[in-house]
Amino acid sequence: MTAQVIDGKAFAAEVRGKVAEHVARLKEKHDLVPGLAVVLVGEDPASQVYVRSKGKQTTEVGMKSVEHRLDADTSEADLLALIDTLNKDESIHGILVQLPLPKHLNEDLVINSIDPAKDVDGFHISNVGLLGTGQKSMVPCTPLGCLMMLRDHHGSLSGMNAVVIGRSNIVGKPMAQLLLGDSCTVTIAHSRTKDLADVVRRADIVVAAVGRPAMVPGDWIKEGATVIDVGINRIETEDGKTRLVGDVDYESCAARAGAITPVPGGVGPMTIACLLANTLTAACRANG
Ligand code: GUN
Repeated sequence: MTAQVIDGKAFAAEVRGKVAEHVARLKEKHDLVPGLAVVLVGEDPASQVYVRSKGKQTTEVGMKSVEHRLDADTSEADLLALIDTLNKDESIHGILVQLPLPKHLNEDLVINSIDPAKDVDGFHISNVGLLGTGQKSMVPCTPLGCLMMLRDHHGSLSGMNAVVIGRSNIVGKPMAQLLLGDSCTVTIAHSRTKDLADVVRRADIVVAAVGRPAMVPGDWIKEGATVIDVGINRIETEDGKTRLVGDVDYESCAARAGAITPVPGGVGPMTIACLLANTLTAACRANG
């Protein structure tokens, strides 16, 4: 079997188009412009790229984009004061603090100081609890993007065996909750899982989110399974250049899978599209 390639780039463009239409209607009918504030502390190069891209795409769909770039040695008190100001700012409907934060800042404290209604990352403990109990919440962008691609490809996911490799708070755990919400039988695998190959071989859906280049080989993949690759790993090639690869070995997995997301051009673009969708949702909820 040669897998169908799930085009996350095209799907994300479609989502952004729908968000832009909705934003235009809000502006016209309710004089409302959704606003997203992104806070970056320090100079992490990957984070700088993400933040720039988020700001650009926010503006492109007609929303207000505000960026706060703070020095790496910013105190926790100063960061919390900024978040408090953004929480109270009625022109801001979404707040995203780019992670990872410098080591001297308490990530949990910072994230939980964001108004849960403006927590477009879905990382606030209230949103985590709401998602875990199947209630209306802000859903983390990367797993939401993965779920949208899976639903688009399969229609119903009910009764499918899904394996999520990786147990992070940002991807693995919320991904498992979302799949459970769609009535999958879900296994969360991680670095201590025994016989990972056996676990993955039983899966109709494999979501790889471990951050290790090409760690899932094709012979672990059940014939016809759907493979969602969340990994974005920069590796050095033999000719001294760098290349982005996912957490699955693309060629061998594509040879057995029924469908697969490429890296780049799969999950990545969907993450930002979902951030824009979450900001729109937050703006609509804030205005009844
Ligand atoms: N760093 C890597 N991914 C993310 C994300 O989805 N949200 C935030 N805030 N930081 C990140």
